[in-house]
Amino acid sequence: MTTPPRPAITAITATGLRRSFGDHVVLDGIDLNVPRGTVFSLLGANGAGKTTTVKILSTLIRADGGSARVAGHDLATEPDAVRAAIGVTGQFSAVDNLLTGQENLHLMADLNHLGRAAGRRRVAELLDQFGLADAAGKPAVTYSGGMRRRLDLAMTLVGTPQVIFLDEPTTGLDPRSRRGMWQIVRDLVAGGVTIFLTTQYLDEADELADRIAVLDHGRIVAEGTADELKRRIPGGHVELRFADLAGLESAARAVGGAAGQATRDSDALALRVPHDGSLHALKALLDRLDEHVVEVDSLSVHTPDLDDVFLALTGEKVATP
Ligand SMILES: Nc1ncnc2c1ncn2[C@@H]1O[C@H](COP(=O)(O)OP(=O)(O)OP(=O)(O)O)[C@@H](O)[C@H]1O
Ligand SMILES: [Mg+2]
Repeated sequence: MTTPPRPAITAITATGLRRSFGDHVVLDGIDLNVPRGTVFSLLGANGAGKTTTVKILSTLIRADGGSARVAGHDLATEPDAVRAAIGVTGQFSAVDNLLTGQENLHLMADLNHLGRAAGRRRVAELLDQFGLADAAGKPAVTYSGGMRRRLDLAMTLVGTPQVIFLDEPTTGLDPRSRRGMWQIVRDLVAGGVTIFLTTQYLDEADELADRIAVLDHGRIVAEGTADELKRRIPGGHVELRFADLAGLESAARAVGGAAGQATRDSDALALRVPHDGSLHALKALLDRLDEHVVEVDSLSVHTPDLDDVFLALTGEKVATP
């Protein structure tokens, strides 16, 4: 009996990856480090280079410079070993519309040299796991977007990959289907798989990713956990609204000393006071307004989310589901 090779601790490492198309520099030195059994999310606006990064790391195109190891294998010198260890669900579906769901999966089983019996077993298992058993015999052209996405991911899983690249896996899915996809991702990670996920949806990265990197103008401009990224930017504040200008002015005077950078909006009769989101600071603010007998009409607390982070780092708005 042979012992299986010891798996590498790191699923993906990349150093100084570069790629241009003509004179358009798309990746300008990208470093990545993704531990095994984690979800890593790459964020970036349209055209930032997310798909290009996925294509390089999954051996579909070559980098112009830099090096990377995926699942313990060097991308440049051992591309076949990398291919054998990974699965890719591309941004655009690999599903053949004219084939049934089952036939699409069998095709993947053949491509993965699974053999007849093992192939049949794996296909049945995946149809069941992805809720596609009832539709298995229907042509994929009749599937809804969500079913097609599930079939696409099921096809990626036929070969039981250790590292899976998901390029915008939930774009265009309804909220329920998105949650279904998230659960599938969580189950895969619980089974030890590493997920490299690109997304436009920041709540998706917040929900799933252990670490997040933001790609902008060919470089990683920030990297960390969702909480680390949120802490990096100011933006937490309390918004107080008043019935009249007098109220706004007395509130501005009351908090003036305590929160020097409070900003006022006379048209909206609103005052924004920087705030760390803690109950303690909120109580201190309200006490202060009370002391000065200021009547507040309404109050809302705003804590920064990944959207704020993204906007602050790249100056671009991203899609909302
Ligand atoms: N084969 C190619 N030839 C020329 N330019 C390309 C090619 N592939 C990608 N590009 C360019 O590289 C840039 C990055 O593209 P990429 O598809 O990686 O972006 P993305 O971050 O995945 O965007 P999206 O969110 O729209 O999917 C874009 O400006 C794109 O036009
Ligand atoms: Mg893309």
